[in-house]
Amino acid sequence: MISPSDVETSSEPTPDQAVVASVLRVDKSGQRVRRMFSSIARRYDLLNHLLSLNIDRSWRRFTTRKVFPAPGDRVLDCCTGTADLALEYARQSGGKSPVVGVDFCREMLAIGRQKVERTPQAEQVILVEGDAQHLPVPTSTFGVVCVAFGLRNVQDTRKGIDEMIRAARPGGTVAILEFSRPRGRILGRVYLAFFRKILPRIGQTLAPNQDSAYEYLPRSVLEFPDGDAMLALLAERGLVQLEQYPLTFGIATLYLGRKPIPQATGATA
Ligand SMILES: C[S@@+](CC[C@H](N)C(=O)[O-])C[C@H]1O[C@@H](n2cnc3c(N)ncnc32)[C@H](O)[C@@H]1O
Repeated sequence: MISPSDVETSSEPTPDQAVVASVLRVDKSGQRVRRMFSSIARRYDLLNHLLSLNIDRSWRRFTTRKVFPAPGDRVLDCCTGTADLALEYARQSGGKSPVVGVDFCREMLAIGRQKVERTPQAEQVILVEGDAQHLPVPTSTFGVVCVAFGLRNVQDTRKGIDEMIRAARPGGTVAILEFSRPRGRILGRVYLAFFRKILPRIGQTLAPNQDSAYEYLPRSVLEFPDGDAMLALLAERGLVQLEQYPLTFGIATLYLGRKPIPQATGATA
């Protein structure tokens, strides 16, 4: 179950969101989430591109252009899944930035590895099995630490953010691409109707699974902090120079923050 602390930073819910939140509580236990993604892994890419009308590709491209690794910087893609963001980074940097992708779902990683092997930058991308709450990477190592549509699924959101910050080098960027709620009243209602009623049916038809993965999707998005609430959470965890970029009417948002550079104490003998 999501803990109350995961939602306490959310902005004031609209009546629709309040109804949804009161009825639904999302089970984000690692076991459930891993099982869910393993059962849809083979159809994941197809559904992602279909349900978003391919717009998800442009969101990842926007992310890699906005947060371009400095020469020599390494990139860490948390909850990498089938490695789309990791591969986009490898492509954009022309293979100059080593990219590590971490995910705890073996089946998603297996698809990702097949894709990596087919690219010219295969040597620069490593995919590793691991939990985003205990990243199997050294501290203060990566110039860019990113996650696309993954943080929302991590059981303890704060632990996930803290681990991203730990992995980033001082001055490095933490980039979180995640679904958000479009702000306009009409668009918000249309989106909610599509998200809650139509998308789960399409998803379940094309990728049948026992965990109702495509009902979980809207539930987890509606319970997750977005906009200023997400920035407040990132500030609380210690990131600075926070920015947010709503994409496609705010259906997704890219959140950025920097890991502070420790100040020299200046003490001299
Ligand atoms: C919606 S997919 C996103 C995949 C990919 N980042 C993308 O852009 O398409 C979410 C991924 O997060 C992974 N995930 C969820 N919780 C995780 C955790 N605690 N540790 C590692 N991976 C996790 C799932 O296994 C899944 O592959």
